[in-house]
Amino acid sequence: MGEVVLERDEGAGGGEGQRPPIALTPRRAPLIGDWAVRRRTFTWRQARGWLEGLPGGALNIAHEAVDRHGRGDLADVVAVRFLARNEPTTELTYAELARQTDVTAVALQDLGVRRGDRVCTLLPRSPELYLTALGTLKAGAVYCPLFPAFGMEPVRQRLELGGVRVLVTDSESYANKVAPVRDRLPDLQTVVVVDAGGAGDEPSTAEVMAWETVMQEASESLQRNGFEIVSTRPDEPALLHFTSGTTGRPKGAVHVHEAVVAHHATARFSLDLSPGDLYWCTADPGWVTGTSYGIIGPLTCGATVITDSADFDAKRWYSILQDEKVEVFYTAPTALRMLMRRGVEMAHDYDLSSLRHVVSVGEPLNPEAVLWGLEAFGLPVHDTWWQTETGAIIVSNYPGMPVRPGSMGRPMPGVEVGVLERGADGRAGVVDGHVHVLDDPHAVGELAIRPGWPSMFRDYLGEPERYAKAFVDGWYLTGDLARLDGDGYLWFVGRADDVIKSAGHLIGPFEVESALMEHPAVAEVGVIGKPDPLAGEIVKAFVTLKADMVPSESLRRELITFGRKRLGSVAPREIAFEEHLPHTRSGKVMRRLLKARELGLPEGDLSTVERPA
Ligand code: WT7
Repeated sequence: MGEVVLERDEGAGGGEGQRPPIALTPRRAPLIGDWAVRRRTFTWRQARGWLEGLPGGALNIAHEAVDRHGRGDLADVVAVRFLARNEPTTELTYAELARQTDVTAVALQDLGVRRGDRVCTLLPRSPELYLTALGTLKAGAVYCPLFPAFGMEPVRQRLELGGVRVLVTDSESYANKVAPVRDRLPDLQTVVVVDAGGAGDEPSTAEVMAWETVMQEASESLQRNGFEIVSTRPDEPALLHFTSGTTGRPKGAVHVHEAVVAHHATARFSLDLSPGDLYWCTADPGWVTGTSYGIIGPLTCGATVITDSADFDAKRWYSILQDEKVEVFYTAPTALRMLMRRGVEMAHDYDLSSLRHVVSVGEPLNPEAVLWGLEAFGLPVHDTWWQTETGAIIVSNYPGMPVRPGSMGRPMPGVEVGVLERGADGRAGVVDGHVHVLDDPHAVGELAIRPGWPSMFRDYLGEPERYAKAFVDGWYLTGDLARLDGDGYLWFVGRADDVIKSAGHLIGPFEVESALMEHPAVAEVGVIGKPDPLAGEIVKAFVTLKADMVPSESLRRELITFGRKRLGSVAPREIAFEEHLPHTRSGKVMRRLLKARELGLPEGDLSTVERPA
């Protein structure tokens, strides 16, 4: 009881699913070798040895991702190629990236950024985003990306919670999302705007500066004084990623420099990246995938990262795969479903023969999509599972390993996972401080991980109790329900909480409810994820109105617009008016009941529902 689980046929029903495993001979000997052998022999200490480190036991992600190559054999290899619609492609070699991130680090230091300070971007995929991310790390500060499709409210809240000191953004986002709330952000000292200056409209206030000016001055300062990358300790904070929970404010997952050991090892084993490989990750760097595998992991491997600032467009995507001769492609189920909609024939109009490995993450990958990959690309899609909190891939279908369509794959070497028996609330059950690890290959439980992998989050910023609650009896609890079959393959079953997954992005229902509650007509809101064939789920809100308000189509539209304006892309797409919302006796809106009703499922245990008088 407790949760509405959208059982997946292949996941919960036991057996190994109807579809046979797909075993193809890889086009290149996979770096992981044989998974079973690697699992026995691999240690994180060994992976640390694949990196260089800094004198005195220091470790800095940016050194491993950029400087090590930029001042070594890979200096002239292209590190990042930036594609943009209607604009020429630009690229930076590892040597250029090493130098320009030095300049950026100096710029941030000259703006007063010190070790541990937070620096945010609110930018599309662009050179400025890469430079800020890596320059921040070089300066020993903490990089925190924000999703550019967020509206004003999520942006304001994250800047506030993060105590962010410098924000790099563009003039449109600044004007619409930041300027109006600037007086509520006392920690935000400087905003750097990347597209000012061109038309002589350089921002004039001291706190809003033009990127070009800042970089020009930093470049001179670098020539005068030089720059040395900050010797961060392995356990020093490096990255801050906001993620959504079922209640309360967004959680700021803090990652440390040591995470780079996991970024690197997983980029090798799961993405199979070697120096010079042409690699495209479609994730937005505003979310964790875009940082771990759009920036850090592939660069530590010396790969060439392709990045495109344009939104999804099937023909454009196939053209990029063809023209850029992409070898490794990391994307998401929603994107694959959008490609599938256009038919396999479209894929066959392009020469995709460079592709060697296709990988997916973020939400359940339908077995149909795995098989479609076989037709469209000649390669099965390889699913991977991880979370903001895990920082890096934890479960994966590895190259060279038979793919079981519908399974997330097997644990990363060096990582121990367990499926824990559930208690009455649907989460891992704790009896006398202990949990029970299930060994029945058909049993569904909460997926848990033994702490000790290097990219494990080390805190929820400012919320140590919330952090402590994520661990029980020596396990990190993921909040996902899964099954572990007899051969060590994990099958995703559902979430154990109310968090919504839309197009691969986690959305906290509480955040959406709070924003809608600010509309004067609204009395109460309950938000659920409604299944959607393309996005997995969309956000649907159930709204009761204040006493004198009457439901109408125009009010519904007004609320949709209100939500869009406040929340941006995480706003509800559907709104339904209700007379009453179901509550628990303690007064909380019962989202699971709203969801069960929406889906026409049994309402389950109603013992905690408040009885209407
Ligand atoms: C949640 C984490 C993965 C990094 C980006 C998203 C869901 C993730 C899969 C998968 C089924 C998946 C889980 C997880 N999820 N990968 N392969 N199959 N579900 O990170 O925003 O923290 O989301 O995404 O529910 O807990 P995130």
